[in-house]
Amino acid sequence: MTWWKEAVFYQIYPRSFNDTDGDGVGDIRGIAEKVDYIDELGVDALWLNPIYESPQADYGYDVSDYRAIHDEYGTMEDWENLLEKLHDRDIRLVMDLVANHTSDEHAWFVKSRESEDGYEDYYVWREGEKSEGNEGVENSPPNNWESAFGGSAWKYDEGRDEFYLHLFHDKQPDLNWRNPDVREEIADVVEWWLEKGVDGFRMDVVNLLSKPEEFPDGEPESGWVGYEHFANGPRIHDYLGELCERAFEPYDAVTVGEMPEVTPDEAERYAEDGIDIVIPFEHMELDTGDTVDWYTTEVDLVELKEVFSRWQETDCWTSLYWNNHDQPRAVSRFGDDEEYRVESAKMLATLSFTLKGTAFIYQGEEIGMTNAEFESFDEIKDTGTLRRAKLAMEEIGIKGFENVRDIVNYWTRDNARTPMQWSDEEGAGFTESGVEPWIKINPNHEYINVKEAREDEDSILSYYRDLIELRKQNPVLVYGDYELLLDDHPEVYVYERSSKGNEDEENDRVLVTANFFDGEPSFSLPEDYDCELVEVIISNYEGKGETDTGDEFELRPYEARVYRVE
Ligand code: NOJ
Repeated sequence: MTWWKEAVFYQIYPRSFNDTDGDGVGDIRGIAEKVDYIDELGVDALWLNPIYESPQADYGYDVSDYRAIHDEYGTMEDWENLLEKLHDRDIRLVMDLVANHTSDEHAWFVKSRESEDGYEDYYVWREGEKSEGNEGVENSPPNNWESAFGGSAWKYDEGRDEFYLHLFHDKQPDLNWRNPDVREEIADVVEWWLEKGVDGFRMDVVNLLSKPEEFPDGEPESGWVGYEHFANGPRIHDYLGELCERAFEPYDAVTVGEMPEVTPDEAERYAEDGIDIVIPFEHMELDTGDTVDWYTTEVDLVELKEVFSRWQETDCWTSLYWNNHDQPRAVSRFGDDEEYRVESAKMLATLSFTLKGTAFIYQGEEIGMTNAEFESFDEIKDTGTLRRAKLAMEEIGIKGFENVRDIVNYWTRDNARTPMQWSDEEGAGFTESGVEPWIKINPNHEYINVKEAREDEDSILSYYRDLIELRKQNPVLVYGDYELLLDDHPEVYVYERSSKGNEDEENDRVLVTANFFDGEPSFSLPEDYDCELVEVIISNYEGKGETDTGDEFELRPYEARVYRVE
């Protein structure tokens, strides 16, 4: 079944969604309380970031028990109630499967560390490189691979006198997928949740599971040193094919694969393994510069269009997203979060709902939440940012938050994790007033909040509802072919979606025009593009129902117009 192609997903970061027990941390009951809000939006599925038992070194991506609920979030009964409430409203629930690594506090790792029988090879253990140094024998990591959070990907363990691999935090040791027992354990976990009624999984960094047999050094100049060896590794398709066939297919469950460093060609192979929706990254990397993450550059629209078009024209199915819990807020990053906040948030959304793929909304995006301004390291909660900042400061030899403030504020994942803004009250309606939230609340909740958005029919929230409805009414927006027009135009993104390649359907055609900047560009369509404008079916400015006359198009700042054409 392919319900997931037509579906709209809503992503919830439970820690920051809604706190009902007054501890400053969101919880499962908080999500249940807001199910009607989610339903009113018109979404079909929820993706929940990890809620399993975890020491929270990476806020749940360090799982210590896959079959238990983290106590700050509630109980298994709370989770069961949530599932029932969602299913009563025909909303599906997709959980997060973290299978590349566990917490170092997971029982498997505790046993592996002790070399307990059967568990020795559950993780990736390697001896270090021993050499004579000035201070006796030096024991250095087995190779130069780096953690995604900066620094070596290896940590020495005295008990085993070996290093273990951690592609993320050192409290997130990588599982050894070469070991069939590990593959069995993960398949059991998946089955266990599917038996409980879950509708599928978003699979964390799922193209990193297969490590090579040998551990050669990575190319030192690459953005993530070693990735050419561990991303899309040698046996990845066997592992995923096996997992999908054994665990997912019998339940007809949806699989959403998060895949750093994946190309469209590779993604087509993952589709053959049984991964339904691929989460690509290329469009999220255009402002990082060539090498290090900790660098920013303006996004070039021509490049962005080239990236989207390459993905639109392949046979794999992708998620369409501008935001998630790992990315700075899109309206601050690709739009204008001040003068044109509303227009630019709506323009970006127009693309999410008119390109080919499954649209994903990340909590708060539907009200145009922006990046926050963090004032000190104490306010930063994201372990990745803290580590990168520390390493960068050591390398350059600088001290003090103020010297890295801009880059930290640009990149930190905390931007996405500030609490959901429900109201203008002191706790933003996220937590009771007087309670200190786990992460700071963006002061702009005074005017950016759900309560206000609900009362305004021109709000970003209302526009999201309209877009969701529009997509449901127009299958061409889901299934239609994509054709890029004006590929070299530096300010506007123009494309057609049409069902002409699909013989069973009437030839529906839709033309999307979007201005990515605050100028007022004018343009005409290419001469060999034959179309007659019928009407504007949605726009982020006034103008629905109209058509333009003449050959010249003009767009206002961040304006998006979607036309039905013939
Ligand atoms: C990707 C997740 O989205 C991110 O939040 C996490 O830190 C890493 N994977 C490691 O699990």
